[in-house]
Amino acid sequence: MLCASAAERNKEPILSVLRECVDTNRPLKALEISSGSGQHVMHFAQAFRNVTWQPSDVDSQSISSVQAYKNHLKLDNVNPAIYLDASQSWESWGGVQPESLDIVVNINMIHISPVACTHGLFKGAGVILKPQGLLLTYGPYAVNGVITPQSNVEFDYSLRQRNPEWGLKDVSFLNSLAEENGLFLQKIVDMPANNKCLLFRKESQV
Ligand SMILES: C[S@@+](CC[C@H](N)C(=O)[O-])C[C@H]1O[C@@H](n2cnc3c(N)ncnc32)[C@H](O)[C@@H]1O
Repeated sequence: MLCASAAERNKEPILSVLRECVDTNRPLKALEISSGSGQHVMHFAQAFRNVTWQPSDVDSQSISSVQAYKNHLKLDNVNPAIYLDASQSWESWGGVQPESLDIVVNINMIHISPVACTHGLFKGAGVILKPQGLLLTYGPYAVNGVITPQSNVEFDYSLRQRNPEWGLKDVSFLNSLAEENGLFLQKIVDMPANNKCLLFRKESQV
């Protein structure tokens, strides 16, 4: 069971955002893309017992970690983690069907992966979410071309040094990707440590 200290710190604030917009009175289906250690999906699954959670990652160590948490916590509303590469088309995402999901969650992936992953995320979410389904992304973002504060500017620089395709993406870029794929940006929530939650909804008519 991997343990990321950032995930330990931000799992409760992100859960608070989900509590504001997730219905607890009917069965729902959620997919987490880039689950990492699995700390988030386990936390959310304990809080929302009406939601069946599908964890996923491209990294085999992460998939093993999620499985170890699942075995330890014995949560029957968490499916076995699947291999999912967000840069690939949704058809390769472990058999997930169009308009079958109520929620897609993606935490701290967009800034630390090639832009093809962001394109794939929005394209896939536009297909697999039900009408009015929710895509929640969390992480550090630029706003109208500006990154604040200085610590995020330095973080963006260090990411781009490691891989020129990495780095903080602009909310307006994500908004345009969302609109191309039948989603709209419903809400931006400022989070601790200069991060944000972006809440996108799938349009009723695509
Ligand atoms: C900074 S970690 C965040 C993990 C976890 N969501 C968290 O917040 O603790 C970035 C994650 O993105 C995943 N990732 C990178 N490229 C990916 C891809 N092409 N498809 C899916 N996940 C990817 C990595 O394997 C890693 O788990």
